[in-house]
Amino acid sequence: MSRGYNFSAGPSAMPEPVLRRAQAEMLEWGGQSASVMEISHRGKAFVAMTEKVEADLRRLLGISSDYAVLFLQGGATQHFAQIPQNIAAPDDTADYLLTGHWGVKALSEAKPYMRTNIVASGEAGKYTSVPDRSEWQLTPGAAYLHVTPNETIHGVEFETVPDIGDVPVVADFSSTLLSRPIDVSRFGLIYAGTQKNMGASGLTVLIVRNDLLARKPRPLANILSYSAHAKEHSLLNTPPSFPWYLTGLVLEWIDGEGGLTAMAARNRAKSELLYAAIDGSGGYYKNPVDVRYRSWMNVPFTLHDDALDTPFLKESEAAGLLALKGHKAVGGMRASLYNAMPLAGVQALVDFMGDFKNRHG
Ligand SMILES: Cc1ncc(COP(=O)(O)O)c(C=O)c1O
Repeated sequence: MSRGYNFSAGPSAMPEPVLRRAQAEMLEWGGQSASVMEISHRGKAFVAMTEKVEADLRRLLGISSDYAVLFLQGGATQHFAQIPQNIAAPDDTADYLLTGHWGVKALSEAKPYMRTNIVASGEAGKYTSVPDRSEWQLTPGAAYLHVTPNETIHGVEFETVPDIGDVPVVADFSSTLLSRPIDVSRFGLIYAGTQKNMGASGLTVLIVRNDLLARKPRPLANILSYSAHAKEHSLLNTPPSFPWYLTGLVLEWIDGEGGLTAMAARNRAKSELLYAAIDGSGGYYKNPVDVRYRSWMNVPFTLHDDALDTPFLKESEAAGLLALKGHKAVGGMRASLYNAMPLAGVQALVDFMGDFKNRHG
């Protein structure tokens, strides 16, 4: 068996020790004489596991008791539509900052549920930057401001949201949560699918401030209501038990590697190595993103002649560098450098890029 360096945008590389541990525990888990997939989600052992996952996540991210943590299904896409139903009334206005593909999607899924306002959009610049705060047209008294701190397709990332007063900030952290420490208290609601930095696909984590949880802007079925899920500790119905368990293993792995500060140092170093190779290639490789907003997680790049895309992909795959094809909205290549990608993987990519340039000129 040979495992390559996997640059997939998601589902994406998992830490190898996590896969090995899941393999070792596959047939018998936690003294249950059965796999974690085969036991009741109402049993003591499973419930204790979910409590540990929540405690570990709270510790790693510094989540205070002002927030509930939910472990749900549906991916970020379902929550694009579910968030407005939970925290905005039909005659409210919600603000959306558009910095790429996913923010646009979030807005279109939210539109049926209230009025919406585009605060600012990076569309004119093909989503290669973040509109300056001075250009933002915020709605006074908005139900919330929605942002996408890391746009996975466009490779545009911003670390902090400027202070916007009392309006809660709702953030789609799908491709950046756990890649570094963040100040949770700056946000009203954080959400992310787990399939990038946090585990496998199938689980969606939401961190919701209690005052937003208490908003009841419209009648909702329990299954759509965040407060109903919180009351049942995310066990309102059968949860995705295996992905939940895997996220627990990933959190333990992050802890063992030195926590989010260590992840941040590693992720910064990996992205700097790749951007330096792109910028130092004399225009052979290019990344179009404003250097202030270049993503640590997803690095899109093009070759100087797109006729070279096919050989680049073929040869990189043969060299064990997997899933480098860019998203069709941007073209070219994209290297996703989530927590599980080691520096050695990025070094192998950079070496390959130099070698490819020498051979293809
Ligand atoms: C930033 C961002 N938001 C939302 C999504 C959609 O997530 P899902 O497919 O889990 O619904 C993705 C998927 O890649 C993403 O990167």
